[in-house]
Amino acid sequence: MSGKSQRRPLVSGNWKMNLNHYEAIQIVQKLSYLVSKDDFEQVDVSLHPPFTDLRSVQTLIEADELRFVLGAQNCHHENSGAFTGEVAAPFLAKLGVRYVICGHSERRQMFGETDDVVAAKVGAVLVHGMTPIVCVGETQDEREAGQTLERVTGQVRGSLAGRTADQVAGIVVAYEPIWAIGTGLTATADDAQTVCQAIRRTIAETWNDDTAQSTRLQYGGSVKAGNIAEIMDGSDVDGVLVGGASLDPDEFARIVQYPQHSR
Ligand code: 13P
Repeated sequence: MSGKSQRRPLVSGNWKMNLNHYEAIQIVQKLSYLVSKDDFEQVDVSLHPPFTDLRSVQTLIEADELRFVLGAQNCHHENSGAFTGEVAAPFLAKLGVRYVICGHSERRQMFGETDDVVAAKVGAVLVHGMTPIVCVGETQDEREAGQTLERVTGQVRGSLAGRTADQVAGIVVAYEPIWAIGTGLTATADDAQTVCQAIRRTIAETWNDDTAQSTRLQYGGSVKAGNIAEIMDGSDVDGVLVGGASLDPDEFARIVQYPQHSR
């Protein structure tokens, strides 16, 4: 088996800096009524609350045996030490976190995370048995200058530097064009597919083809219930990373249920 059929779709909700732990519990409870066992047969679903909510969401997922997978939005690359305000990967692993977003464009832009920093975080996440979701994406200026593919594939190589083929096979790369995040603008399904295809080709060239066929690729940027089916049609698009629309349980449940509405 090769190609899209071997890669399970992954729908991830990145709550960013929204929802306290009481609100988090309410949202997860609502989602648990809306998303059925059958939905989970078709799609993996990860939820990425703020750090302060993780313990509450973990407890709820475990107590009610929910099939949502716990995710985090960031971590530090060191295991411990004098890094005031930071959270280490082993702490997240202890909380049952399975996916960690690394190098989200908001962190790259606002907190100065370079590809080297992201690569170190990816290493820490893997060492502690979790899966990094590595974000890449171009700015509006880079897009207008025709530099999208160069920029994105450069970020893939830089952020995954030093990783083995086996490691890369198990990770997730999220293509999130910066101009489409929180703006209501979405890359066309064709653009999302073209960039994801280029990312897969870069992985094949840098590691090997089998690795590239295993790595899951997501699209992110103003994903909603109304556009997910079209985006997921792309043969190299294996999932979505959802921001704003993941804060509304009804909308997020409809996104998760996209296979029912696919053409
Ligand atoms: P929006 O879905 O709000 O555009 O955010 C995308 C994103 O940044 C997810 O990580």
